[in-house]
Amino acid sequence: MNTLPQSVKAFQRIGEENALTVLARSVELAAEGRDIINLGVGQPDFQTPEHIVEAAIKALRDGHHGYTPFNGILPLREAVAARTLTTTGIEVSPDNIMIMPGGKVTMFAAIMMMGEPGAEILYPDPGFPIYRSMIEFTGAKPIPVPITAANNFSFSAEETLSLINKNTRLLIINSPGNPTGGVAPRSEIELLVKGLEAHPHVMIMSDEIYDTILYDGETHLSLLEFPSIRDRLIILNGWSKTWAMTGWRLGWSIWPDHLYGDVRKLALNGWSCVNAPAQFGGIAAINGPQDAVEHMLGEFDKRRKIIVKLLNRLPGVTCAMPKGAFYAYANMADTGWKAKELATSLLEDTGVAIVGGPDFGILGEGYVRLSYANSVENIEKAIARIDEYLRR
Ligand SMILES: Cc1ncc(COP(=O)(O)O)c(C=O)c1O
Repeated sequence: MNTLPQSVKAFQRIGEENALTVLARSVELAAEGRDIINLGVGQPDFQTPEHIVEAAIKALRDGHHGYTPFNGILPLREAVAARTLTTTGIEVSPDNIMIMPGGKVTMFAAIMMMGEPGAEILYPDPGFPIYRSMIEFTGAKPIPVPITAANNFSFSAEETLSLINKNTRLLIINSPGNPTGGVAPRSEIELLVKGLEAHPHVMIMSDEIYDTILYDGETHLSLLEFPSIRDRLIILNGWSKTWAMTGWRLGWSIWPDHLYGDVRKLALNGWSCVNAPAQFGGIAAINGPQDAVEHMLGEFDKRRKIIVKLLNRLPGVTCAMPKGAFYAYANMADTGWKAKELATSLLEDTGVAIVGGPDFGILGEGYVRLSYANSVENIEKAIARIDEYLRR
């Protein structure tokens, strides 16, 4: 296979998102008649709120069947700009907003733009697996930024800054974070931004897709709120998590002027536009009532407390209370299992789907991620099965 062109070899470096592989295996086992409880996949178990669904149906009935502008319809970009002003106090022009087919596509675009052999890209570890996968695809060197229990499952600004050198092109930040549910403290973000001022060659991509999913009075601090890095900041956000719209494939990003034309051309070459009715659904999501979102957050909060309490009763397991997202990230190093082996065996032997920490990075050994986007009844049943399994 040495005759393969470099471009194909690059494709062989693309990784996977194991939470989706776990989901596929769960579906297979369920089809065989097994009773599966899925705490693996990272998507809300709620339906998209009715008024959003109705807005998309109405858009189709009203004849919105054609292409839209590559960067998204203006009323949707205006809605995103208005929401950004409300949540961050920062004015963003709709001309800097790109509507994307999902949150993931922004990381794809940003990493493709910044990555090449010789470049280094810093990414959170453990973190969303696609960061590293895409970095490796471009030939850039992935440099993990440790996300540790000692730092309350966030990054240390000092440690992050120490990893920057002249080859560093991009720094990826994700708070609230997947898989840990960690939230970067304001003080650490401020220190990081201050330090980044000495490294003007480093672009920053801030993945803020869980910006509304916060607990215990935590508030979101967007990197947009720091003028000193605005001209090299890409914000990733979207509808998937906040409005339970994972299957709609709808996201947005905010780009500096000097990159906007390039990402718009990528859209033109790659996907032309996001499907029109989804964009109308997106307007209804942002501009419509938020009570369904509030309800969902209340439920997540209840389940978060229950799952963490139950996890801490398991032999060899400890779990800190996550501050955001909908994942419990449990330390199971004292069970005597390797994390991925435990996750695989639990699914095959007990029908409980969870994801091993190593699927989120080299620092993930000793941990498993459990999504609590599932009913209290199922969470209790799943943890009882895990308990029995660990005590066997
Ligand atoms: C941190 C993070 N960023 C981005 C995404 C991708 O979101 P989307 O489904 O909108 O592509 C996810 C999804 O799990 C995520 O956890």
